Amino acid sequence: MSLSVKDLQKAADEALSAIEGAPDLDALKQVKIEFIGDKSALAKASQSLGTLPQDERAEFGKVVGAQRSKVSSAFEARLLVLEAERDERALVEERVDVTLPGRKILKGGLHPLTILTNEISDLFIGLGYRVAEGPELESEWLNFDALNIPADHPARTMQDTFFVEPLDARLVMRTHTSPVQVRTMLENQPPIYVICPGRTYRADELDATHTPVFSQVEGLVVDRGITMADLKGTLDHFARAMFGPEVKTRLRPSFFPFTEPSAEVDFFFNGRWIEWGGCGMVNQKVLRSAGIDTDIYSGFAFGMGLERTLMVRHGITDMHDIVEGDLRFSQAFGLGAK
Ligand code: FA5
Ligand code: MG
Repeated sequence: MSLSVKDLQKAADEALSAIEGAPDLDALKQVKIEFIGDKSALAKASQSLGTLPQDERAEFGKVVGAQRSKVSSAFEARLLVLEAERDERALVEERVDVTLPGRKILKGGLHPLTILTNEISDLFIGLGYRVAEGPELESEWLNFDALNIPADHPARTMQDTFFVEPLDARLVMRTHTSPVQVRTMLENQPPIYVICPGRTYRADELDATHTPVFSQVEGLVVDRGITMADLKGTLDHFARAMFGPEVKTRLRPSFFPFTEPSAEVDFFFNGRWIEWGGCGMVNQKVLRSAGIDTDIYSGFAFGMGLERTLMVRHGITDMHDIVEGDLRFSQAFGLGAK
């Protein structure tokens, strides 16, 4: 292939006007391929220099070189202009107005029940107690039998139980936190001072004061010379810490197979008495079956409902508000920013 000097000039002029006419960087890239790249007329002319007779080669070579360098300087110049334009545009388009108000982000927070649990734990840790834990899927034996509630005893029906299949595995969703008492006594020697907050389950209808999944905090003390007075003093301290000095509570004689004597603690709220929890002196039968010498040791235990504790503390008149997960409810406790 051979080009005349005139052809070369024409090719260079075409290249120059394409470069000048390229409106943006993408277009300029195409122009480069077409007019400067290996397949362009100018590049091909350059490649064909070797095939020219000696005498023409030098002269033609000069012309090709001159045209190519003219085109490539024009290209570099255009490239700088288009890049500057692009940067300028980005500065305008991507401008951040630092004076705009910030977007409000919901921050996470602890559920009111968790906050309450932490507070109760702190209170009792301050009194020298330890926090104990047990499983929510519990053996029927620990949930009932070891607490002196045999299978054929009417007390077994005091708590409506979720039995878990297969039934012969004898597992239940624990109906109270009291099985942790037994677990603790089997694993530890007195003196024992523990609380156990946790979730509990009963086939109760959801109503203003009941929910099928609720929480209790269990307390257990076993030591030398523990009396009902220690229980009463501890409960008074607990109630005042929870509800303030004005709260009205009362102890009502009651029955639990695992305590003797037993009582129920009520508080006065919203014009009526509501049961807060059960308590009593740990039944000697229970202590003995856990291997504790009842000639030396005695103990008390209690189990309070946490949702009901929240109700009184925060004037919540209906349990639905606690369990239904409406954010407006949680936000009142500082969960999430408004
Ligand atoms: C018990 O569960 C006994 N284990 C308490 C106990 C512990 C007695 C240690 C003696 C020694 P009761 O079934 O009464 O007792 O439940 C205790 C508390 O749990 C109730 O007073 C109430 O505050 C709460 N509670 C019970 N059922 C529900 C429910 N469905 N929804 C919300 N709270 C409940
Ligand atoms: Mg009760």
